[in-house]
Amino acid sequence: MKIALFASGTGSNVRNIIKHFEKNKNVEIASVFSNKANAGALLHAIEAGIPTYVFSNQELTDVDSVYKIIEKQELDLIVLAGFLLKIPKLFISKFEGKIINLHPSLLPKFGGKGMYGTHVHRAVLAANELETGITIHYVNENYDKGAIIKQFKIDLTESDNLEAVQEKIKWLEKTYFPITIEELTNKL
Ligand code: GRF
Repeated sequence: MKIALFASGTGSNVRNIIKHFEKNKNVEIASVFSNKANAGALLHAIEAGIPTYVFSNQELTDVDSVYKIIEKQELDLIVLAGFLLKIPKLFISKFEGKIINLHPSLLPKFGGKGMYGTHVHRAVLAANELETGITIHYVNENYDKGAIIKQFKIDLTESDNLEAVQEKIKWLEKTYFPITIEELTNKL
């Protein structure tokens, strides 16, 4: 079973996923892709000896670029872990049902274009939500609209500020994202 990770940011999820699957001999994290040359996610991959690929926005949509590399890797799953660009139609048609994303809210609430990172948490706080959580879902052509695989919730209290919400979400991601990916690979 081969998985590629796509990430744009610090890569705490990339790190957790890599660590988790070091113990699973049936699953190989085959590659880590990023549109940001300075993404922390790339460092976690390099440290673990996993091949990395950096590409421009244009190269993501170019049929002869990222797509060609991905095709050669014969992947079973593509995991978006904090990846901020829209996945091109070409990928979605070729890898239907094999691309999943992590979103830091209980979709359909607080999803869609522009809803990432602290934008999500600020919106959750502004709406005085009593709970928040993470959603792991399939990727389709619309931002954050693909079928939901699993959601994990956590209560919010009145004293929770932005930092507290971020911490709660990070805890959910660390605890549940790798095992949800593993459950999926067991079904493939
Ligand atoms: C995570 O909160 C994830 O839910 C969202 O982007 C963030 C990425 O964090 N899609 P990191 O780069 O894995 O630390």
